[in-house]
Amino acid sequence: MKKPEKRKVLIFPTRRKLYDFLIQKWKELSEKAIEKRGIFTAALSGGETPVEFYQRLADSKDLLPWYTSHIFLADERFVPFEHPESNFGMIRANLLEKVAIPDKNIHPVTVDRNVDYSARRYEKRLREFFQLKEGECPEFDLIILGIGEDGHTASIFPGDSSPVETSHLASAAKLDVLKHDRITLTLPVINCAWNIAFLVLGECKARIVKKVLEKPQNKVPASLVRPLKGKLFYLLDKSAGLLVPAEKTSPKK
Ligand code: 6PG
Repeated sequence: MKKPEKRKVLIFPTRRKLYDFLIQKWKELSEKAIEKRGIFTAALSGGETPVEFYQRLADSKDLLPWYTSHIFLADERFVPFEHPESNFGMIRANLLEKVAIPDKNIHPVTVDRNVDYSARRYEKRLREFFQLKEGECPEFDLIILGIGEDGHTASIFPGDSSPVETSHLASAAKLDVLKHDRITLTLPVINCAWNIAFLVLGECKARIVKKVLEKPQNKVPASLVRPLKGKLFYLLDKSAGLLVPAEKTSPKK
């Protein structure tokens, strides 16, 4: 199978170096986007892995153009923002509350009524914000994703085709394996982004990383992430990159 173009697999000797790289990338991309279009748009993931990165990003707040940056969610659990498992709650506490981003630039998934309604409402917000015509996709400047041990990414889970084969921008994930229903950006939206960064840490992810990189024909959700015209980065710490052969690595400094 042909390798997706513009894919970079970077394995970092320390998490700190990985975070520094991603903060620098965020800075570069945001400055470029603001110069071109006046704003920078990013969609962020939840889970455990990115918590420390968001804290580092908040520490570097003076480096970044928050006033003209817009933050969306890659996915959300159907729980109130105050719930410990709310992705928005986590991102707000570790990043958004600590930087000078105007409230109007923050675009959470509003959890209301039921999960289908929330997905439709998020989709509407995306359409309005990006001023999309029928059939158009938002083009995020950056989407940060994680990978679950089963290969899920955002809330696109193995065996669930609804966020994959769809013309929707957001969809509901209602699966027995999930503790809470979820809302996710769909695969077509993710693949429209200009830059996608998988942030993957820890030895428990080494097997799935190998599978995603080397056996994309298995079609676990993370291996379906292939930007149409953007760039794809796999940012791994040493443990997550343990089983990735040396020729695929690009050690940094
Ligand atoms: C979520 C996510 C999800 C996450 C993976 C990996 O809401 O949980 O957005 O897709 O990125 O589950 O999570 P960890 O990095 O915490 O293992």
